[in-house]
Amino acid sequence: MAVLITGGAGFIGSHTCVSFLEAGEDVVVLDNFANASLVSLRRVADITGRTVHIVRGDIRDTDLVADTLKTHKCTSVIHLAGSKAVQESIEQPILYYENNFFGTLSVVKAMWRAETRRLIYSSSATVYGTPQSLPLIETHGVNPINPYGRSKLMAETLLHDLCASNSDLSVAVLRYFNPVGAHSSGLIGENPQGLPSNIMPLLSQVVAGTRSHVEIYGTDYDTPDGTGVRDYIHVMDLAEAHFRAHEALSDPGCVTLNLGTGRGYSVLEILRTYERVSGHAIAFQAAPRRSGDVASCYADPAQARTLMGWQAKRDLDEMCADAWAWVKNNPAGYVE
Ligand code: WQD
Repeated sequence: MAVLITGGAGFIGSHTCVSFLEAGEDVVVLDNFANASLVSLRRVADITGRTVHIVRGDIRDTDLVADTLKTHKCTSVIHLAGSKAVQESIEQPILYYENNFFGTLSVVKAMWRAETRRLIYSSSATVYGTPQSLPLIETHGVNPINPYGRSKLMAETLLHDLCASNSDLSVAVLRYFNPVGAHSSGLIGENPQGLPSNIMPLLSQVVAGTRSHVEIYGTDYDTPDGTGVRDYIHVMDLAEAHFRAHEALSDPGCVTLNLGTGRGYSVLEILRTYERVSGHAIAFQAAPRRSGDVASCYADPAQARTLMGWQAKRDLDEMCADAWAWVKNNPAGYVE
């Protein structure tokens, strides 16, 4: 029996493969490699001493997903494949509804055909929209303000409806906050294609000398130092949360959990931390606020601790140090 990880060659996916392989699970990866490199899976094998079975294809190919599930006798699906850039979703909403909603619909239709009844779904704190109260709990209202968040929420709604109509389906919806960092080996990490939009890879590029400075979008927010506050979570904490969910949340029904540390850090705090752990100064310029940004967003992760005995273990120093180790060892990212 095996676990199918869609998008398993990507940033979250490759780290999640490590967690499952190291726990002794057999892993099948389905990835179209549109935003991932095959090298990441070779590195996963270097880290774990185990290989995954690779299926090159798209989640929207329902026949392929169903055949993969049947061939490998997959008991569950860790569905990570999707698009995740806010600005891109505003510019290309069709791509986001295709990949994130229709892609999830295709995966669950394939699961039905293959009689696979367990799903762990990669969602995002973006579904909350502008927080009305903090820290964010899972019962906070959802009101996404961009197509990325709306496409994720539509997929969540689909899964809730499926659980309501099928008593043998088990779904865990995991709402990520801000995944950053890299595996401590420095062998796998965040490998953005083109111009990164997230702060961590941009900070890494300044430290690596491939970027002159970062722009801080907004220094006049109602936060302790005026810059945006986010709940950064180490990607390995996130990966381990997926394994814990797979172990602990097998009962029928739909459970939604926030995956964050419960601690918010400002842009200036993460920038200063990265400077300290890397030993390199990071030049920055104040810039106007980015449209769609909120002042503060951080999780109350109590439900994840209660329902699956998981909580994040790694702090901001480790997130920055591991991000830097990855970039220092792989200045050009994955090289085919
Ligand atoms: C973090 C902070 C920016 C870039 C998004 C998605 C979320 C998740 C993570 C997938 C903010 C500031 C950023 C820069 C800056 N995606 N910033 N200068 O927007 O919180 O979340 O990515 O899992 O779903 O919504 O992440 O890293 O872009 O921004 O000042 O050049 O850094 O304003 O305060 P964000 P981010």
